[in-house]
Amino acid sequence: MNVSWEAEADLVVIGGGVAGLTAARTASLRGLRVLTLSKGGPTDTSTQYAQGGIAVVAPQGDSVDSHVHDTVEAGAGLCDIDAVRSIVEGGQAAIAALTDLGAVFDLGRDGQISRTREGGHSTRRIIHAGGDATGAEVQRALNAAGLPVLFGAAALRVVTGPEGVCGVVAVSDNGFGVVHTPSVLLATGGLGQLYAASTNPPGATGDGVALALWAGAAVADLEFVQFHPTVLFTPGGVGRRPLISEAVRGEGARLVDSHGDSVTAGVHPRGDLAPRDVVSRAIAARMRALGTDHVFLDARHLPGFAQRFPTITASCLAAGIDPAQQLIPVAPAAHYQCGGVSTDTYGRTEVPGLYAAGEVARTGLHGANRLASNSLLEGLVVGERAGASAVERLGVRARVTEIGSWTAEFAERAVVQQAMTEHASVVRDGDGLAHALERIEAAIGTVTVPDPVAGDVRLPASDVVSVPGSAGLADSRGVMQSEPGLAFGDAGRCGPGQQVGESASVWARHLRYVEDAALT
Ligand code: FAD
Ligand code: SIN
Repeated sequence: MNVSWEAEADLVVIGGGVAGLTAARTASLRGLRVLTLSKGGPTDTSTQYAQGGIAVVAPQGDSVDSHVHDTVEAGAGLCDIDAVRSIVEGGQAAIAALTDLGAVFDLGRDGQISRTREGGHSTRRIIHAGGDATGAEVQRALNAAGLPVLFGAAALRVVTGPEGVCGVVAVSDNGFGVVHTPSVLLATGGLGQLYAASTNPPGATGDGVALALWAGAAVADLEFVQFHPTVLFTPGGVGRRPLISEAVRGEGARLVDSHGDSVTAGVHPRGDLAPRDVVSRAIAARMRALGTDHVFLDARHLPGFAQRFPTITASCLAAGIDPAQQLIPVAPAAHYQCGGVSTDTYGRTEVPGLYAAGEVARTGLHGANRLASNSLLEGLVVGERAGASAVERLGVRARVTEIGSWTAEFAERAVVQQAMTEHASVVRDGDGLAHALERIEAAIGTVTVPDPVAGDVRLPASDVVSVPGSAGLADSRGVMQSEPGLAFGDAGRCGPGQQVGESASVWARHLRYVEDAALT
């Protein structure tokens, strides 16, 4: 074995957000030796940034049936109803487990958990923490559980053998490594960074979809990317864009255009609180009609805005906007991957030993458009079940002996983002998708990576893929630069960009699929 490091585990969890850590905790409690890999740090997750809250059936004036109905309606009827019911039913127990772990939710004046409303919900059922910092509280509670996590370790391949999964190849500060394991859980989050404007952190690059496909698992519904209607608009803003939670509209803010006219009047009976895809399309149509690049959220009349929404207030003030006095400029941006790796509601894929949970997975809960605040719910419920499911693989012999050399594909992040943003966004058509596909395919470069398990992985400098941290895949000329002898990235570390490159070709394949779907 020529890798720099080796480990053994009963379960390797790839990803340290709500789904990954919930699964890791459950499996540990059941006696499994669990190792979690995270290519970022402890808060480099979408979970950390979640604002509005967690959708859980309320004790009064609500029911499982009502939550199921709202989910299916928002999902345009394309949800798997049994999966929806199963996950919604798991909500209360999941919150109880999280509360036991120390998560604290906001209380109302009556001392009961406070609940807000968001788009597509027929009632106030969304619980929240820190006003608009729900995800930060969930991540804090899970991080505090003290589970072993190898930060800065990016998974490159899930290795399979005759009995299914047998290990993971990863790269960390210490170079290539292999973990021998019969079970791997993909909990790698979403793919928002394939777009120029996204609410997602830099690491949300669709790695899990690529890992699953390489391992032979099926994926589905990837054409359903959700665009959040109200993301803070700043001219020329790049990178992760601050979200203006739907809960702001839930508390009474209104969406208006530059003339002060309602954007959603006459579009849907729920107006500004219609499902997200409906609101995003209405905004896109209004922007096109007026030739503008944003609309506005009017929250000036909401009492105590800064106390109720401290995170949003801070983002607005940093951009020079006082929400108590001024309109907030907003535009839709990529937010959530509704489809993903096909699983049942226990996280099982078709590949023995390969599980997926959280945003990377496609359980059937979301259909064509996720209902607001159903994602943290899914991460908690399916994460817990997937962690428990991995017990079924105890006793399976798992040893990685070789993986073969492979072709790593890469592309400049900005090219992928531009093509996706222009042609695979809120509004798209067959011609645009074909054009995007052409541009992405033309931008893909390849490099052959020798088997890091069986062979020497040191490549000559000219063959090396450089990944300048989260900034991109190659430099702006597409030139690969790195120190001699390093296989991936700066100082031998795999930055998030490298995986964007690897997912670029996967995404190109999906574009072809979306294009076919659009044309038939
Ligand atoms: P994440 O939390 O994104 O974690 C992914 C992990 O995988 C990270 O640790 C990352 O480093 C790691 N990773 C990725 N690739 C690799 C690799 N190759 N190797 C190793 N590690 C890897 N949902 C709600 O329900 N309610 C909300 O209020 C809400 N608000 C949101 C607000 C914002 C701004 C955003 C961005 C999302 C919001 N969502 C909300 C959606 C929700 O937060 C996410 O869908 C959910 O947190 C995803 O959790 P996860 O565990 O699947 O992935
Ligand atoms: C929000 O707070 O608007 C985001 C909620 C979600 O993505 O579910």
